[in-house]
Amino acid sequence: MAKILGICGSVRLGATDYALKEALREAEKIPGIETEIWSVRGKKISPCVHCDACIRNNSMCIIKDDIKDLEEKFINADGYIIASPVYDMSITAQLAMVFNRLRPSYLVYPGKLKYKPGGAITTGGTRHGGQEFVLQNILNFYLMHEMFALGGLGGCYNGGKIWSKDNKVQGANDDLVGMETVRKLGKAIGEATIVSLEGRKRWEEIAGQSNLSIESTSPLFDH
Ligand SMILES: Cc1cc2nc3c(=O)[nH]c(=O)nc-3n(C[C@H](O)[C@H](O)[C@H](O)COP(=O)(O)O)c2cc1C
Repeated sequence: MAKILGICGSVRLGATDYALKEALREAEKIPGIETEIWSVRGKKISPCVHCDACIRNNSMCIIKDDIKDLEEKFINADGYIIASPVYDMSITAQLAMVFNRLRPSYLVYPGKLKYKPGGAITTGGTRHGGQEFVLQNILNFYLMHEMFALGGLGGCYNGGKIWSKDNKVQGANDDLVGMETVRKLGKAIGEATIVSLEGRKRWEEIAGQSNLSIESTSPLFDH
């Protein structure tokens, strides 16, 4: 089975959790796909303090909190959908901390995330309340980790976007066009997860036969 990890950046069971679950349900319609959700809700998450212990020790973050539970899931998943409500035209502080804390992944697991597909979902109280910025923020996270950032299928553009009118699940459900983008995004990530998994296996074969490294190249900067 190929695993899609959904990461929910909302602190409550509202529009974002609902939209993410709908997208994952759509992905699960594809044979061979299973899904799992990890949410920031109720979790103890501390911010990155740029101590650089991860770089010195070649380790994941030394802060011990609920991010530990996410690390392994994040590294081992085959596809990703990350969802966030719009907070002040940006992602939530909790999701930003998750992104920052996963930074050492490239050091500890070089090449493990390479070419895995990721999609983004957002819900905002206002029709144009910053959804585009949030989607870009999430897609940038994938780009940083050598992953394939995907926008979804026709009409999704850069991801699933909901106008919730601050009305939680009901608000998301009432946005029929928005929910369509969410479901199409889920389908796209489901399909792309299979394509990527099979493609990466093939690439490992070719790389093995040709003595090429399947790991990431070193970052351009020097520590
Ligand atoms: C601190 C805070 C900031 C917010 N900022 C925005 C914003 O900039 N633009 C917007 O459209 N909605 C904003 N909202 C509304 C939420 O994005 C919206 O209600 C969202 O659907 C909530 O998702 P949830 O139901 O999953 O919690 C904000 C809400 C909070 C609590």
